[in-house]
Amino acid sequence: MEEPLKGLILAGGFATRLRPLSCSKPKLLFPIVGTPLIDYMSDWLDRGNVGEVILAVNHLSDKLRMEVAARKMGDRMALSVEETPLGTGGPLRLAASMMPGREPVVVVNGDIVSDIDLNGLTRAHMVSGAEATIAVFSVGDARPFGLVTLDSRDQITGFEEKSPKAQGPGWINAGVYVLNHSVIGMIPEGRAVSLEREIFPVLANRMKLRGWRHNGFWYDIGKIKDYVATNMDLLKRGDQLLPDMRNDVSRAADVQQPSHVGGHCVIAREAKVGPYAILSPKVEVKSGSIIRDTILFEETTIDEDCCVEGAVIGEGTRIGRGTSIGKGSVIAGEVVIAEHSAVKPGSIVLN
Ligand code: GTP
Repeated sequence: MEEPLKGLILAGGFATRLRPLSCSKPKLLFPIVGTPLIDYMSDWLDRGNVGEVILAVNHLSDKLRMEVAARKMGDRMALSVEETPLGTGGPLRLAASMMPGREPVVVVNGDIVSDIDLNGLTRAHMVSGAEATIAVFSVGDARPFGLVTLDSRDQITGFEEKSPKAQGPGWINAGVYVLNHSVIGMIPEGRAVSLEREIFPVLANRMKLRGWRHNGFWYDIGKIKDYVATNMDLLKRGDQLLPDMRNDVSRAADVQQPSHVGGHCVIAREAKVGPYAILSPKVEVKSGSIIRDTILFEETTIDEDCCVEGAVIGEGTRIGRGTSIGKGSVIAGEVVIAEHSAVKPGSIVLN
């Protein structure tokens, strides 16, 4: 087996499109079918022969620091904290001294869920002579993404970021890269730099940027709609991303599949959970409540006789007895909703 490569997870964005859920939780800790994304990523990087990992952080960095410590990941993961946000390129320059040596570095966006074969990607990079290799993924509408144009030998000849002109199918930047140290040297120091807008187009012009086509699954959780779709899709696939812990589901509770009940959840008698209910660990659903087509973050409590449908509810929130939550609502973490409330469809409830 080859020496493990070093990795860097870009995890410092403000995640404005995931507000209000991201006001109290960094994207890397968002639950994906009940499992925080950081656990899933750690496992994926491990399988891809990525050893030490740097978390490039800014927004809510203390929460990430605490989670890394709580998971005893400190041997493998170190934090590089930005005083001001440095974009997607600046964090690499800032962390350069933490990545000595000449081996290429694996860089991933901290908001994707994918089974990209990192071993295949790094092998392809090593033999190609490129300075950077980008995993690319085929989508039906490339507009929200970075559109990549490839020639027949997978050399990237064009790179266009989030362009309205990109309507229709195309290969897009999947947010997973293998970069030579020379690329880190191209990044100006001390300011925010966009890899996608400032560095990749230059490499493409020099014919030093390659694409590596990924054919498995790939999701970007950057918007609430996409975050929900990712969870529901993975739930439907039925893959258990990571093993979960015990839970306590009353025999009289009605859990309709597909649903996911995380570790240490308590579901009371005569509660109806599912289909399409995703309960993160330590959720409590009390008697007579109905939870359908909904994602509950950890440690939420749904009191008796509530009806929650088509919603996302942040961590530690309590929904008081007899409340109904309308479809498409998003409720921030650590909120208390009073008894017998009626939350209208499409509401955003802030903390
Ligand atoms: P929005 O505000 O909703 O656009 O989200 P975002 O701030 O996360 O930006 P975007 O989705 O474009 O970011 C892609 C990846 O880069 C995510 O994993 C972000 O955490 C990360 N990222 C974005 N900006 C920064 C930054 O300034 N520093 C670091 N370390 N990571 C960043």
